[in-house]
Amino acid sequence: MTAPHRQAPGRRTAVLRREAVLATVPVAVAALLGAAGPAAAGTHGAAGAGDPYFPLSGNGGYHVEHYDLTLRYDTGSRHLDGKAVLTARATQKLTRFDLDLKGLKVTGVTVDRSAAGFRHSGQELVVTPRHALHKGQEFRVTVTYNGTPKPVTDPDGSQDGWIPTDDGAFVASEPQGAMSWFPANSHPKDKSTYDFTITVPKGRTAVANGVLRGQHTANGRTTFRWHQAEPMAAYLATATVGKFKVEHYTTRDGIEVYNAVDAREARAAAPVLKKLPSVLEWESKLFGPYPFRAAGSIVDHAPDVGFALETESRPVYDSAPGVSTLVHENAHQWFGDSVSVTAWKDIWLNEGFATYAEWLYSEQHGGDSAQKTFDALYGRPASDELWSFPPGDPGSGKNIFGTPVYARGAMALHELRKAVGDRDFFRILRCWAAEHRAGHGTTAQFVRVAEHLSGKDLDGLLHTWIYTQGKPNKS
Ligand code: TRP
Ligand code: ZN
Repeated sequence: MTAPHRQAPGRRTAVLRREAVLATVPVAVAALLGAAGPAAAGTHGAAGAGDPYFPLSGNGGYHVEHYDLTLRYDTGSRHLDGKAVLTARATQKLTRFDLDLKGLKVTGVTVDRSAAGFRHSGQELVVTPRHALHKGQEFRVTVTYNGTPKPVTDPDGSQDGWIPTDDGAFVASEPQGAMSWFPANSHPKDKSTYDFTITVPKGRTAVANGVLRGQHTANGRTTFRWHQAEPMAAYLATATVGKFKVEHYTTRDGIEVYNAVDAREARAAAPVLKKLPSVLEWESKLFGPYPFRAAGSIVDHAPDVGFALETESRPVYDSAPGVSTLVHENAHQWFGDSVSVTAWKDIWLNEGFATYAEWLYSEQHGGDSAQKTFDALYGRPASDELWSFPPGDPGSGKNIFGTPVYARGAMALHELRKAVGDRDFFRILRCWAAEHRAGHGTTAQFVRVAEHLSGKDLDGLLHTWIYTQGKPNKS
């Protein structure tokens, strides 16, 4: 029941190595700034977005409005050729700014068509445009790059990003794997629209986010063009490649569904994917209108991966999902994808909500009631890992996908529901999704919406369930 969508491989060595890297990060950032001198630093975009859990994720000084990614992947040699054109806007004067990119070789960078200076070390691609950018200026950065993408190992020991499979690649980048396949402002604070042009060997399918704009085959290769029209955080982008069976159709609500399924998972996936339109309709009744024009599923056969991800408009699954995983990943389309976190410590706003959607689905489809699920969890002893840290303050990037985030996060919502009643509870969820649609939300803002709509003082209850250490007393 807890954190069912990701089983971290828990590779001890990887975990230890990652901790060592993290420990040195603030020093590295300081050194980077220090080396440039304080005067110059004033016009240098920061190397990170200011998230203490992932200090180098994202960058300062600009916002990316649009990514235009052209990728060519050779599934045999696992070589990726990439060209990324970013349309961005400076939020300060910039003589220099960073992009996140790791493990790939950069062959050229231009800013507004002039060759720019660049230096690439670790995950920071430092770009020096020929002319300084002024605050508010829109600019276009083109990066050409290539190499063999490798997944990023996260603080909890699991991998994300571009993960090669036997017939292509499983691409799921939460929280920091976007940098393993394209140069990005890789923090959920920054959301952008996307175009993808992906060329793969004929017979393979490349599936990204949004709607399919076209596909054509020539000289033994097929090119797929995808367009994601609503803003998206970099970690939610995908370009999953494999041998897939494809189906597409439009729902009664006019949503374009595109499902891509690995033949080895087709039999198990079929009855679950058949439920997608009804799951989306059910979620739309509870949470408000579906936030994107496209939907669907990518069901890969990637037995070593161990998780699914709510890639925007089209979740990716490492194998045929069960119904509750389908419900979970699609609930994220409202909670996580349309309404995004501004800092990774708020991750319960994604995982607690998607988990609670599973409980609600069960309750309304002949399974256990949410109360029963809550009670079973509440019955766990105070020493259980469920109570090991508060969901709203996981403490470090290592804990962001821990049991308290998923299960106790959902328990917090159940307590809220009991305190305000069903009518107000569902009004709160819909209002949250509507007010922050295509944007961001924080825990404090959620509490304010809940208090405003219910007219109740919920500070104590929510504080207890979201922020206090240890097993809360029953209210
Ligand atoms: N957000 C995913 C879920 O609960 C789980 C997840 C966390 C994940 N990190 C990931 C999936 C990295 C893929 C890659 O649905
Ligand atoms: Zn989730």
